Amino acid sequence: MIKIENLSCGFGKHEIIHNLSLTIPAHQITAIVGQSGCGKTTFLKTLNRMIEEEGGHMSGDIYLEDTNIRNLSKELLRKKVGMVFQQPIAFPYSIEKNLSYVLKYHGVTGKAELEKEITSCLKKAKLYDEVKDHLKMSALKLSGGQKQRLAIARSLCVDPEVLLLDEPCSALDMKNTIAIEETLLELKDQYTFVIVTHNLAQAKRIADQIVFMDQGEILEVTEKNAFFENPSSELAREQIQYM
Ligand SMILES: Nc1ncnc2c1ncn2[C@@H]1O[C@H](COP(=O)(O)OP(=O)(O)OP(=O)(O)O)[C@@H](O)[C@H]1O
Ligand SMILES: [Mg+2]
Repeated sequence: MIKIENLSCGFGKHEIIHNLSLTIPAHQITAIVGQSGCGKTTFLKTLNRMIEEEGGHMSGDIYLEDTNIRNLSKELLRKKVGMVFQQPIAFPYSIEKNLSYVLKYHGVTGKAELEKEITSCLKKAKLYDEVKDHLKMSALKLSGGQKQRLAIARSLCVDPEVLLLDEPCSALDMKNTIAIEETLLELKDQYTFVIVTHNLAQAKRIADQIVFMDQGEILEVTEKNAFFENPSSELAREQIQYM
């Protein structure tokens, strides 16, 4: 569970997120939706304090289970709270090394153990069958959808508690989108997912909870079915009409 209390965040004098409080339940998929520029990405980046790396400042409290994230080292926080971006990131190494260097960094050693973890993460991310015979191939040769599934495998291989995903499917075709949605649905018992999506139909397919944001504030936090059947805000009502 993530508990967010009175979170404000901004750049210089420009406040982007205004006094936001929210609980994100464990082992569920929470979808953050809202118009472009309303602060979804900024909000997501507060949850692993990445926003501070980008020159932003944040106030308020964020608890991961019972621990205030300010009391965790950035290294431990980023291990517990992974992030997958809109543009898939593959490093210019082999598929295998894209995972093994992260595993080694987190203390996994030994060929057999590394192989076991690599296989397990690739399977979780639904990429294994496509790449199992080409693990030494450069990851740069993968398609966009495969690179995004590799990025998910890489995030999962450090065994995070939470995975943040910022529009992970917006550059992907339907087949890759479905593979990622299935991955999240199959794994939500083990992880907590927070996904920013512009695609309301995607939120309807996979989310448990919807957070509808506007201009740096939350207009509503609602269980998925209730949100789509009877949104409380006029803006959400309008957007659902266009689905
Ligand atoms: N590094 C930054 N420095 C200054 N302002 C920023 C920075 N990053 C974001 N902003 C501003 O914060 C506001 C919210 O941006 P954010 O990227 O969080 O929106 P978003 O909801 O994710 O939009 P989109 O749906 O288009 O991705 C915007 O006005 C943006 O210009
Ligand atoms: Mg964004």
